[in-house]
Amino acid sequence: MKIKSAEFVMSNSDVAKCPKGKLPEYAFIGRSNVGKSSLINMLTNRKSLAKTSGRPGKTQLINHFLINGDWHLVDLPGYGYARISKNAKKTFQKFITQYFALREQLVSAFVLVDIRHKPQPIDLEFMQWLGENGIPFSIIFTKADKLKPQAILREVAAYQTVLLETWEEMPNYFITSSSNETGKDAVLEYIDGLNGNMKLDTP
Ligand code: GTP
Ligand code: MG
Repeated sequence: MKIKSAEFVMSNSDVAKCPKGKLPEYAFIGRSNVGKSSLINMLTNRKSLAKTSGRPGKTQLINHFLINGDWHLVDLPGYGYARISKNAKKTFQKFITQYFALREQLVSAFVLVDIRHKPQPIDLEFMQWLGENGIPFSIIFTKADKLKPQAILREVAAYQTVLLETWEEMPNYFITSSSNETGKDAVLEYIDGLNGNMKLDTP
């Protein structure tokens, strides 16, 4: 899929105020600093459409971006960020959970995990929660530029081993790097396919 346009629509902390209408949307979620905002910029060929930072906790709201005038990408705050106050953390968790529970336009989530890290309980728990709530998701391994090809395969296999302790099958996954654009076409083609299915579904 070619990205012809990508524009910021709105930020907010209340799922009820997110864009109305029926455009299909895809949300990026994962721990703070895993590379959600960078991935959105990489996929849309834009340097700073989504705000990124070396310091965790940069994205603090639900951010909608309109792509090709036809579908939305959603950048969310990270979960598991330790350095914010307990109150702020609760608020984040509440609106992230509400976003996933209530947002009917969501076609699929992408759960981002840093390919260099062993499976973290918070990520596994979040995937479990998505599964229990019937919310489709894929895993996106980020920062693949930090590892050699052999190590990438080893880390993915190790992740799969852990997931298969609780999941019947390995969820769909992508290996990506926002630095060298690994995985860009695969993710965009996947979204394009899902967008096509959505159109077939609507009479
Ligand atoms: P929060 O908004 O705080 O939840 O973080 P985020 O998940 O949106 O992460 P962000 O995109 O802001 O990136 C965090 C840091 O990781 C930045 O310093 C990025 O430059 C770096 N980063 C993101 N993706 C990659 C990648 O693919 N490769 C490398 N080497 N660094 C990356
Ligand atoms: Mg961010």
